[in-house]
This record gives sequence, structure tokens and C-alpha cells, in this order.
Amino acid sequence: MTLLKITDRSNETHDIVGEPDFSLMEAIREGGVDEILALCGGCCSCATCHVFVDEAFLDRLPPMSEDEDELLDSSAYR
Ligand code: FES
Repeated sequence: MTLLKITDRSNETHDIVGEPDFSLMEAIREGGVDEILALCGGCCSCATCHVFVDEAFLDRLPPMSEDEDELLDSSAYR
């Protein structure tokens, strides 16, 4: 179980508990943050789950995959 502190686009914060088998996208979506659309369900084809992670926590995430890096290049908000 992981505690996630999410700040949405309106600067409202949400404390979300992430379950071990959930991806970050799934935890945020299931935690009720409506702004994360996740239209492809995590198939790495839409970038509507794009989030910004505080640099202090980047080493807790797996390295970015080549597919993820290429998809984010297509995002206007990278
Ligand atoms: S839900 Fe993440 S890329 Fe589509």
C-alpha cells in the first residue's frame, strides 16, 4: 500500500491509497480524480494519463519505457 499525494489542475490536493497491484494511473483513476481520462486503459496509446511526478520520487518508479517516451513526445504538455 502506497500513499499518493495528488495535486490536480485546480490545485486541489487528494490523498489516495495505491494498492500494490495497481499502476499509478489505475490508483489515481480509482481514487476519484476525474481529470485523468486514461482512455486506452493503460495500453500506452493515448497519453491521457500523463502526470508530473515530483523529482524527489522519480527513483521509486521503474525506468521509462521506449514506448512511453515516444508517446509523451506527441503530447503538447511534456
Ligand atoms: S491510459 Fe495511459 S496511455 Fe492511455
